[in-house]
Amino acid sequence: MWGGRFALGPSEALDALNRSLPVDHRLWPQDVFASKAWVHALCRAGVLSAAEETQLLDGLDRVADKLADGAAVGAPDEDVHTLVERLLYAEVGAVAGKLHTGRSRNDQVATDLRLWTLNAIDELDAAVTALGRTLVAKAKDGMDAILPGYTHGQRAQPVRWAYVLLAHAWPLVRDRQRLADARRRTAELPLGSGALAGSGFPVDRVLLKEALGFRAVSPNALDATGDRDFVAEVLFAIALIGTHLSRLGAELITYASGEFGFVTLADSFSTGSSLMPQKRNPDVFELARGKAGRMLGDLIALLTTLKGIPAGYQKDLQEDKALLFDACDTLATVLPAVTGAIDTLTVNVQRMAAALDPAMRATDLADLLVEAGVPFRESHGLIGKLVRAAEEAGVTLDKVPANIATAIHPALAPALAQLGTWEKSVESRATPGGASRASVESQSEELRRAFQPGVTG
Ligand code: ARG
Repeated sequence: MWGGRFALGPSEALDALNRSLPVDHRLWPQDVFASKAWVHALCRAGVLSAAEETQLLDGLDRVADKLADGAAVGAPDEDVHTLVERLLYAEVGAVAGKLHTGRSRNDQVATDLRLWTLNAIDELDAAVTALGRTLVAKAKDGMDAILPGYTHGQRAQPVRWAYVLLAHAWPLVRDRQRLADARRRTAELPLGSGALAGSGFPVDRVLLKEALGFRAVSPNALDATGDRDFVAEVLFAIALIGTHLSRLGAELITYASGEFGFVTLADSFSTGSSLMPQKRNPDVFELARGKAGRMLGDLIALLTTLKGIPAGYQKDLQEDKALLFDACDTLATVLPAVTGAIDTLTVNVQRMAAALDPAMRATDLADLLVEAGVPFRESHGLIGKLVRAAEEAGVTLDKVPANIATAIHPALAPALAQLGTWEKSVESRATPGGASRASVESQSEELRRAFQPGVTG
C-alpha cells in the first residue's frame, strides 16, 4: 500500500510492532460506513463517475458481508483500513484504487474511531442508566430500614437504607452528564482533513458530516488528525464510573460480611471457595473494585502517550484504540454484573436495626439542648460529658440516670425523656437532601426522571 518507494518490505520484527489489525479490526463497520460516505463525496466532487460510484458502493457492501462472515480473522493486513481496501480490490478490481483519493488513514482512523466511540458512549450510558434505575427501585423497599450511617468507618447518625442506595445513584447522574458532554465533542467530523493539511479534492465536508451523523466539522486539519481529546474524555468518564462502582462495591463488601450482615447476595451473584465450603464470597463487588484500577490505568496510559507528541498524526496515537476498547469492554462487563447483584440482594432489616447504637443519639441530644437555649458548642461539650458518664456507669447513652444527667445540665434529663424512636431521629434532619422520608421520596422522584433513557439531566 505504501511500498512504492522501498526496495524491500518491512522486517518481520517491524511488522509485528507496527500492525494494528489485531486491535482495530473491530472498526470495520465504521470503516465501511465512512468509506461509503467518502465515495459519495468523491463522486460529487467530480473525482468518480456515477458508474464508478455504484461499483464502489456495491463493492463496499459485499466487503461488509465478507467481514461480517469473519474475513478479518487471521488476515495479514497492517490495519483495518488496508484490510477493507484489499477486500474491495478483490470485489471490484482496479477501480478500488480510486477510493483513497484525497483521503489519508490519518483522517480515516480519526473518523472511524469517533464513530465507534459515539456508539460506545450510548451503550455505556444505557448500562449506567440500568444500574441507576435498579438503585432507585431497591430504594423503594428500603425506606423503613434504618441503619447506622458511617463516617470514618464509625457509626455516626441513623439513616435509611433507601438513602444510602440513593447516595450511590446520584454519582451516576453526573456520570451520564459527563458522557453526554464527551459525546458532543466526539461528534466532530475529521474526514476531509487529509493527512494534515486538508484534502486535495473539493469534497463537501458539511454533506459528509450530515451523512455520517456528526454534529460539526472539525475546524483545523492538523488538529483534527492528531486530536484524541475525545478518547481521553471518555476514558476519564469511564475511570470515574469505575471509581463509583468501586466505592459502591467496597461498601457492600463490608455490609455483606458476617460481622455486619446487613445484606445477603443472591446465590446467582455469589461465589464459593474451592477450600472452605461455608463461603459466600462477594467477588462481583471485589471485581468492580479491582477493575476500577485497570480503567484508571487506561486513562493514564493515554494521557502519557499524548503529552509528548506534536500536533498532527503520530504513530504513537495507534495506542489509543487498545486503551479505549479495554476500558469500554471492562466497564461493559462490570456494569451488568453490579446491576444484577444489587437487584437480587436481600436486606436484613433486623441486623441493621441491631447495629443502631444509642450513642448515635448524641447529636439529637445536643440539638435538644440547643432548643433549650444552650449554645451549640457548649451543648456539644455537655453531651460529651454525658457520653463519658454513660461509659462510666456502664449504660447506653439513652439510659443515663436522670440524677447523673441533671448534675451535668438541668436541661439534660428532659432532653433524654424527649428522645423518641430512631424513625423520629432520622426525621429530625428534614432539610432538603437529608435522610428524612420526604427528602428521600423527592430524591427518588428526581432520580426516576434522571434515569429515563435519553435524559441526561
Ligand atoms: N493503524 C493506524 C492507527 O491506528 C492508522 C493510521 C495510520 N496512519 C499512518 N500515517 N500510518 O493509528
